[in-house]
Amino acid sequence: MNILLTGGTGYIGSHAAIALKEAGHNIVIQDNFSNSSPLVLNRLALILGEEVPFIEGDIRNTNLVKAILQEFSVDAVMHFAGLKSVGESVLEPLKYYENNVLGSLSLLRAMKESNVKKIVFSSSATVYGIPRYLPINEAHPLKPVNPYGRTKLQVEQILEDEAECDALLKVVNLRYFNPVGAHKSGLIGEEPRGMPNNLMPFIARVAGGKLKELHIYGDDYDTFDGTGVRDYIHVMDLAEGHVAALNYLPHSSGFETFNLGTGDGCSVLQMIEVYRKASGREIPFRIVGRRQGDISSCYAAPNKANQILLWSAKLSLFEMCMSSWSFQEQLVN
Ligand code: NAD
Ligand code: UFG
Repeated sequence: MNILLTGGTGYIGSHAAIALKEAGHNIVIQDNFSNSSPLVLNRLALILGEEVPFIEGDIRNTNLVKAILQEFSVDAVMHFAGLKSVGESVLEPLKYYENNVLGSLSLLRAMKESNVKKIVFSSSATVYGIPRYLPINEAHPLKPVNPYGRTKLQVEQILEDEAECDALLKVVNLRYFNPVGAHKSGLIGEEPRGMPNNLMPFIARVAGGKLKELHIYGDDYDTFDGTGVRDYIHVMDLAEGHVAALNYLPHSSGFETFNLGTGDGCSVLQMIEVYRKASGREIPFRIVGRRQGDISSCYAAPNKANQILLWSAKLSLFEMCMSSWSFQEQLVN
């Protein structure tokens, strides 16, 4: 199939690009580089042995998206483009609604007018809000607790409404848990601008000597060692989940949601220990107070994706840390 990846030079999109090419699909990427670098395109070309067709631009430019859909005879869209910082979304909600919601509306309008009827959407476990039970399945109530999460839920609802009125539209809505790690080449990975907010990129910088120590946000949670527990999933497993979603799209009844996670919880202290072994570096840390808005534990019930998409996460925590470290080392050198 011919696939458009919106936001395809970003962290998850660039890894999905590799999995899709390896599965034999043709891809084209559109990105406005608001949170990524053109260097990713050089890296992808090195990994894939060929240039990836790329158009620079914003998905809110509906005419541009239409032109891409038509020029590349796009069969399906993977919609990664979006802003994703929880903290920034609290400070600048309008920016998040404008980019994530208006961006998705523009994309959907372009798809409708170009008769493109298949889309895979990058949603997030953040739409569940504070877990009422664990593991979280797709039927868990939806109550996001920040503007970022609400933009994701709104786009889900728009997609569901569209699929309801257009019997030909097929939507696979993927709710990612905590994607981490990097491609095995070490050439692409997660490199946030400024100070990292998330655990794994922070640990990577401490291991690489760029930051002095990790702050652990609380060791008094109701978990087995007191630190927060999450469902970390290797970004290449996540990328394979997109290939599985694409294979499933023609069979989808309209709008269908799947959790992409491993089903296993890992604590902050466990992650530090595995990273230490994988990198051979010490990870100095200090326990500080809880981070506002954090929850104790969050992990997926991935059974639906296992059974219906015929996909499951295969790579271990050690492989997540090893690949993150290879990418980090390549940045350090
Ligand atoms: P990322 O920031 O690395 O990638 C997103 C890409 O989209 C960037 O390259 C950015 O430049 C581009 N972009 C943003 N707005 C755009 C616009 N209006 N027009 C064109 N390009 C635009 O983020 P990521 O981690 O790769 O996340 C991809 C998607 O998955 C996002 O929608 C995010 O909300 C979602 N998600 C991410 C996580 C995570 O932890 N990384 C978890 C759950 C869901
Ligand atoms: N943590 C620290 N120190 C840090 C960073 C994080 O102790 O410097 C802890 C957190 O308190 C939490 C765990 O590490 O217990 C994971 O935190 P992350 O920030 O890496 O991930 P979150 O689960 O808080 O949130 C991320 C994204 C959300 C997304 C969610 C689920 O930031 O947008 O995963 O996909 F919704």
